[in-house]
Amino acid sequence: MPVALIIGASRGIGRELAMQYKAAGWRVIATARKEEDLASLKSVDCEPLQLDVTKLSDCAGLGERLDGEKIDVAILNAGVFGPRTEGLTAPDLQHFDAVMHTNVLSAMRILPIVLPLVENAHGRLAVISSSMASISERSNPAGWLYRASKTALNSVLKDVSLSTDKAICVAMDPGWVKTDMGGDSAEITVDVSVAGIRQTLAALKPADNGKYLQYTGTEHGW
Ligand SMILES: NC(=O)c1ccc[n+]([C@@H]2O[C@H](COP(=O)([O-])OP(=O)(O)OC[C@H]3O[C@@H](n4cnc5c(N)ncnc54)[C@H](OP(=O)(O)O)[C@@H]3O)[C@@H](O)[C@H]2O)c1
Repeated sequence: MPVALIIGASRGIGRELAMQYKAAGWRVIATARKEEDLASLKSVDCEPLQLDVTKLSDCAGLGERLDGEKIDVAILNAGVFGPRTEGLTAPDLQHFDAVMHTNVLSAMRILPIVLPLVENAHGRLAVISSSMASISERSNPAGWLYRASKTALNSVLKDVSLSTDKAICVAMDPGWVKTDMGGDSAEITVDVSVAGIRQTLAALKPADNGKYLQYTGTEHGW
């Protein structure tokens, strides 16, 4: 039975990833930080794992808790948006730290632990990035702290991809999705986004290692 690890599976895209892999017959290890979300994941036969990606001890303990696993698909999904700015409003230190810690530092702590487990299965590793991470396709500065964090996350993913020839690692833009973060005006529903992410990951070839892709499989400009 193939194994998926979904980091940040309490709601939104992460929860739907867990549900769709489960429905497809996979074993799903799904992380959340709150007790009620862990119980809810357990109730749908996922294997819950408590993880606040901003807690050093939680991240460091991941290796021991997943020791010996062979993970076919690992997806780092947890993320926050931060201040909804339009122009060049400087973030305060608290917002800057929260967004960079959740979206970037956590990846630099978690991916080195998860990569060998994905290599064990010659599997696929994705970080959930955003179209807002692209510098070459950018046409406005709205949400510039979030943009900076996801561009940095793309850089982290690229370095991870350069560290392996046994796993395929990609940055994945899920589209603009109707979730708490994406809002009601978003373009697509969570089931469409996640079906596309799963299909795109399943179709990856070794030559795709290090790419920045949309949920449709189309490549983004960096
Ligand atoms: N929705 C969109 O249009 C869109 C577009 C591009 C990219 N994305 C990216 O897609 C990912 C999922 O977004 P979403 O739309 O599903 O957002 P969401 O509904 O706001 O869900 C965010 C998820 O991240 C988790 N999370 C946040 N901080 C965490 C922490 N410190 N430790 C562990 N988990 C944490 C949340 O857990 P809690 O429930 O515990 O808070 C929740 O599961 C994010 O990385 C986001 O940047 C979304």
